[in-house]
Amino acid sequence: MHAPSYPVRGAGLGLRRDFISEAAEQPPPAASFYEVAPENWIGVGGRFGRLFRSMTERYPFVCHGLSLSIGSPAALDETFVQRVKAFLDTHQIRAYTEHLSYTSDDGQLYDLMPIPFTEDAVHYVAERVRRVQDILERRIALENVSYYAAPGQALREIDFVNAVLEEADCDLLLDVNNIYVNSINHDYDAVEFLEALPADRVVYCHVAGHYVEAPDLRVDTHGTDVIDPVWSLLDHAYQRFGVFPTLLERDFNIPPLDQLNAEVAKIAAIQARHQPAADLEVAHA
Ligand SMILES: [Fe+2]
Repeated sequence: MHAPSYPVRGAGLGLRRDFISEAAEQPPPAASFYEVAPENWIGVGGRFGRLFRSMTERYPFVCHGLSLSIGSPAALDETFVQRVKAFLDTHQIRAYTEHLSYTSDDGQLYDLMPIPFTEDAVHYVAERVRRVQDILERRIALENVSYYAAPGQALREIDFVNAVLEEADCDLLLDVNNIYVNSINHDYDAVEFLEALPADRVVYCHVAGHYVEAPDLRVDTHGTDVIDPVWSLLDHAYQRFGVFPTLLERDFNIPPLDQLNAEVAKIAAIQARHQPAADLEVAHA
């Protein structure tokens, strides 16, 4: 099985400035690892810098980038990628992931930028991913993103995603909430999509909550609790691909830390249903 080879295990929590102070003092017990956006922490000094360092010294971390913009028509910012590499090395961060996205859109809640799913885009993105992996001297995983409009599609989303992963020879960060949101917004079957993903490239996972704008429109806000159909999709993913490390993303309306811990514990409980307890040891460094 692929998952044990990923450098973190179990259930994790996206670490935010809002609660880093509290987490440093009383770490949420269900969290086996943390994730941050390098853009939010590169060059940060002072009190927050010290807090961040105290966390990376104690716990396993992964990074999830925001601004690589792997599909952008603009040239790849190799200086930025070098800075990310230095950051990963400084904090001994175990893995780096990014969005399979055509925009650096993560700061927006409701992005209408078109994503052309074409053969040309597959080649273009794959070459850039390979370059990033060369600079970082690490294999990376790309996340399936939520999107709200995609005019002029030559390929289905699933075929586009799979072709990029194959040609770039990189891994997949499976975001089950994004699959759910897209399945409603673009009227497809979430389980069918999930099952068509390449098992050997699924290494890591995100769950999050989203906003119900209308019965046929969900917005990927990371601002609410995870809903039952998304938990079910996670369960189905473990059944299909085996258990892989999974992280709770929460960026808005952040509840008290014990509530976040309860959601992380729920991830761990679903993982436990799919694998023997011995495999679930907390991977604290
Ligand atoms: Fe995500």
